[in-house]
Amino acid sequence: MRIKISRSSNKTTARVNQGQQLTGARNGNNGSTQPEGTRRVCGFVCTHFLCAFLVFLACYRWKHLLPGYESEGSQWSKSKLSNEAATSVSATATTTLPPAVPPASSSKALDFSAPSLVDPSTVKRIFWMHVPKTGGSFFLPIFFQFCPKALAAERAAVGPGQQIDKEHLFDQWLLKNYPPEKWCNKNLMFYNMPCPGCHHHYSEHPNEEFFSLTVFRDPTERLWSGYRYNRQGSWQSDSNSTFYEFIREPNIMNCQLKMVLGHDCCKQNRQQIENMRLNVSLAIERVSQPRFFFGITERWAETMCLFHRWFGGEVLSDVDFHNNRKGRTLPPGKYRDDVPPHQELEWFEAIVPIFEARLKAANCLAYSPP
Ligand SMILES: *[C@@H]1O[C@H](CO)[C@@H](O)[C@H](O)[C@H]1NC(C)=O
Ligand SMILES: *[C@@H]1O[C@H](CO)[C@@H](O)[C@H](O)[C@H]1NC(C)=O
Repeated sequence: MRIKISRSSNKTTARVNQGQQLTGARNGNNGSTQPEGTRRVCGFVCTHFLCAFLVFLACYRWKHLLPGYESEGSQWSKSKLSNEAATSVSATATTTLPPAVPPASSSKALDFSAPSLVDPSTVKRIFWMHVPKTGGSFFLPIFFQFCPKALAAERAAVGPGQQIDKEHLFDQWLLKNYPPEKWCNKNLMFYNMPCPGCHHHYSEHPNEEFFSLTVFRDPTERLWSGYRYNRQGSWQSDSNSTFYEFIREPNIMNCQLKMVLGHDCCKQNRQQIENMRLNVSLAIERVSQPRFFFGITERWAETMCLFHRWFGGEVLSDVDFHNNRKGRTLPPGKYRDDVPPHQELEWFEAIVPIFEARLKAANCLAYSPP
């Protein structure tokens, strides 16, 4: 979408330039023999037609290409986004828990052969909500879980006990070389093809039973990671801005919360941010649903355990723990204090207990791979 928009603004520029050249030619051509009035009228009509067309185009794009902003009327109000009074949160959000498995004894690994919460063959629609800077490698367990033929092919290619080629362990590579319609479970579909991992926000798909799969991250850690990753989402072109300055840009905080509520992570302008109303209770409710699986980046092993108790299969020590982008975690010190209270922190505090309740039910609490 970004490409389209920038292409459109290039077009706009080109057209405006043309208009200026026309004007210039008209001014410089006063002595020409062509009827002046006709040309002036023509220029007037053309320029105004162009303006109207551009306005139409802008409105059209706004309404049709940014559905997240339009369709969420109830999410928007006059109240300010930042430092808004905390929404009251019911800590007792109900959630669906995976079935228990016998706890791991001191010598034995968890028994992943017990029935999972969901029969993976019944999963037909997958929404991978890839939140920036939370762990794009989460696609690997997803893909290999629901596309077991692809995993078998990769394993066969390298031979028993060998590492799968690391060059293959990327979402784009896998999707290109193992087209889901051929390699995944019958009738399985990833939303947002050909790029399911392009940071799409949550959207409803009426009449379709879909599963949302994501990992969330400690909000401060995520902000720090975005800061270190070229100030991701920053409006300023200042590559030297401090962490303090970065997180105070109005679009930067609450990215995960926004995405759960159907907004882009951070592409809003100032006006949109001011008009945005983030309903923390709704975001808690949404991730508690039985068809919303979430893990937590900092708790990867437990997340992988829970994922397999939810959808079946066992923890795969290679693909489930493969990390394509190893980042550094937040250094101790002042950074945490730089982050003011905001809604995503409040939301995150409320969803950790949901995660832990799910872990506990699945005997995945404190899981570490054998
Ligand atoms: C950032 O700092 C470096 C080193 O001080 C300087 O060379 C560079 O021009 C600065 N960049 C910006 C965008 O201010
Ligand atoms: C926020 O969401 C909750 C849960 O869905 C709902 O009951 C409440 O009315 C919403 N609040 C606002 C202000 O929209």
